[in-house]
Amino acid sequence: MATAAIANLEDEFTPTDKPAGPCVMVVFGAAGDLTKRKLIPALYNLAKDHLLPDNFAVVGVSFDDLSPDAFREEVTRFLDKEDHASEAWRWFHERLYYERGDFASDDTYLCLAKQLCEIDAHCGTQGNYLFYLATAPKFFADIVQQLGRHNLAQEENGSWRRVIIEKPFGHDLESAKTLNAQIQSVLAEKQIYRIDHYLGKETVQNLLVFRFSNSIFEPLWNDRYIDHVQITNAETVGVERRGGYFDNVGTMRDMVPNHIMQLISLTAMEPPASFKPEAVRDEQAKVLHAMKAFHPDEVLHNAVRGQYGAGRIEETTVPAYRSEPGVSPESRTETFVAMKLAIDNWRWAGIPFYVRTGKRLAERHTEITIQFKKTPLQIFQDTAGHKLRTNQLVIQIQPEEGMMLTFGAKIPGSTVRVGSVNMSCEYAKYFKTEPKTGYEVLLYDCMIGDPTLFQRADMVEAGWSVVDPVLDVWRAVSPRKFPNYPAGSWGPKESDDLLERDGRKWRTIA
Ligand code: BG6
Repeated sequence: MATAAIANLEDEFTPTDKPAGPCVMVVFGAAGDLTKRKLIPALYNLAKDHLLPDNFAVVGVSFDDLSPDAFREEVTRFLDKEDHASEAWRWFHERLYYERGDFASDDTYLCLAKQLCEIDAHCGTQGNYLFYLATAPKFFADIVQQLGRHNLAQEENGSWRRVIIEKPFGHDLESAKTLNAQIQSVLAEKQIYRIDHYLGKETVQNLLVFRFSNSIFEPLWNDRYIDHVQITNAETVGVERRGGYFDNVGTMRDMVPNHIMQLISLTAMEPPASFKPEAVRDEQAKVLHAMKAFHPDEVLHNAVRGQYGAGRIEETTVPAYRSEPGVSPESRTETFVAMKLAIDNWRWAGIPFYVRTGKRLAERHTEITIQFKKTPLQIFQDTAGHKLRTNQLVIQIQPEEGMMLTFGAKIPGSTVRVGSVNMSCEYAKYFKTEPKTGYEVLLYDCMIGDPTLFQRADMVEAGWSVVDPVLDVWRAVSPRKFPNYPAGSWGPKESDDLLERDGRKWRTIA
């Protein structure tokens, strides 16, 4: 916010991280989109930043019949052209291996174990393995069982073994509990890294620093000064090539128990006693446990669902959800969710958290808005501009990363006129950084054994406890009118009504 102060801190921006220790990262689902679009680019960014150890290798495992060279070629295509000839890519490229195999077959794990032994001998990776499950969720439990059966999950002779599990983690509370039990029968909780890529976003992590390293905001961060909180997560994309998957899942399961709950917990948590992983995660978990699950009678009043029809996004006509490939023409799957949530604890009693998330909305934009209360006495109500907005703090998460504080100021002139002014800090300007994939920090943290930014079993289950009652009612009561919002809008009218009923409005995103 204050340019001068930030400039003085320049020395502190110099990265001080050291490379992770020797290890092999094994990616199950190596031929999939996640590996090519996110994981390999993230690893490459880590290589560029010298955060990968020299004793490092990646083994891709997938059912696709690829030679190691064909695999290397495949992943290279997903990198910017100018990076193909870089020194960092050459370094990375020669550390890439491939293993073809069926995730259910013993042979795959026998071959993998043999290949890992050879890599340890050749690359000095010391038996430290990070297994990344970038597969369809139906394989998660089986892969972990197989790792256990083939002695790949046991930490022996000072080596470590860790498993990163992608979302969705379960389909509802019961299946999440079952999955937790299945993987915990093989792995200790400290070996399990349940990933949520929102926790890899700079501004999401900054929520902790912002709240707990500044003394001026925390005293205001409660029901006394805050009127309500809004979280908007808007995407312009539709379901792209994931129609078949998405139609069985819907926006509620896809976004809410994970990404949205992370944003809420970091916004609402109490100050942790330290920045140690368990201290932070304990406080996050407490918030999630304090979130009020709806009684069935409350669901339709507090939760809105939507599905997009045809419309226009950035001058392009786009089809309705029901016409997307892989989606049933009668689909009742929601592509939009808005909810009014409550946190039943001392700090947040009576303060609504309004959240909305959806596909094919007007803009790609994710933000958290803290809406402060009005001043106790409105002494400027007879002056021009008295309809002044109350103070707002907007934490912008993407695509731009930054923060903005809105406050009232006198407009220069001989009469008293009050206007709203913004004080803002854009990450790209101050820190001169390019937004990354978000996976860099998470992969690095897993390699160094820091689980702070990963979800614990209890956190995942608490997220589902909030979502389950809504899904139950939605399953029982069909949506009245789908599609109910055109692509390129801000969602169904009921989403606006949800706030207007309380005399509030969604912040206008320009
Ligand atoms: C994923 C969801 O977890 O997050 C996708 O499965 C969604 O449906 C994506 O598009 C959004 O991520 P981001 O980082 O683009 O906001």
